[in-house]
Parts: sequence; structure tokens; C-alpha cells
Amino acid sequence: STVLILNGPNLNLLGTREPGIYGAQTLKDVEALCQETARGLGLTADCRQSNHEGELIDWIHEAGRAQAEGRLIGAVINAGAYTHTSVAMHDAIKGVGLRAIEVHISNVHNRESFRHHSYLSPAAAGIVVGFGTDGYRLAVEGLDRLAKAAS
Ligand code: DQA
Repeated sequence: STVLILNGPNLNLLGTREPGIYGAQTLKDVEALCQETARGLGLTADCRQSNHEGELIDWIHEAGRAQAEGRLIGAVINAGAYTHTSVAMHDAIKGVGLRAIEVHISNVHNRESFRHHSYLSPAAAGIVVGFGTDGYRLAVEGLDRLAKAAS
């Protein structure tokens, strides 16, 4: 089985982008961590990043089909700033019934108030916030447990 790792806008800049907030790990490092965590659970990580909302939505639809066919356990999603703006991503997750874990590297709740609301949270099975890039590992592990509990 596969686990989808979906990163949204500006997460391709990890490592150089506001390192005081997001740390020194690059997207490549994060994807390697996800791959290693997935492998330890007998899974394969399919890691994708896009700065384009529509592309993220197309990938959520594709993931919903793969989940329905039993090829995918769900998705770990850091939607970046689309977290705070995208009704369309909320609708996509709900629309295909995707098992999604929302991840934020930073603790969005101790930052600017515009980061306090998430359109994704009501559509998410679980949320991991504020653990730095290690949150992706926690999210993959938690998603695996939820998927096993559901089967
Ligand atoms: C983020 C938090 C968002 O508010 C921000 O727009 C990001 C990254 C995080 O991982 O902490 O791009 O999702």
C-alpha cells in the first residue's frame, strides 16, 4: 500500500524559507523521512509538492480513487497557506472521502491570527501541529494506525 505525502505552496522552499520558524530541513529531507517512516511500516510514500491549488485538488481526487481501491491508506497533507483559504481543498477531501492527516510544521496557533483558522481541519481525520518536520513522521504513523483500525 501507498501513503500520499502532499505538500502545498512554498514548501519547496523548506530549508531556506524562514528557518527560525520552519527549520533547516529541506523538502528532500522531509520526503526522505516520510519514505523511511513508510518503509518501516511496510508502505511506500508517494511524495508530491505543488504551488498550484488545482493540481493539489486533482491529486486529492486521484488519491480518493486509490484509497477506494485499497491501494492507498490515505494522505498526509501540509497545504501551506491554502490551509487558511481553500474551501476547494476542503470540498475535495470530503468529496472523495480521503483519509487525510493535516500537518503544520509550526504551531499555527501561536502565530498570526490569520493562521488560526483551517478549512482543512473539519475534513481531516487527524491533525499534527507544531512538532517541526518530525510532524510528518508522526502523521504517517498516526495515519497507518487509523487505517488499520478502520479495516
Ligand atoms: C504551515 C503554516 C502555514 O500557515 C503556512 O502558510 C505554511 C506552512 C506550516 O507547516 O507550519 O506555508 O503549513
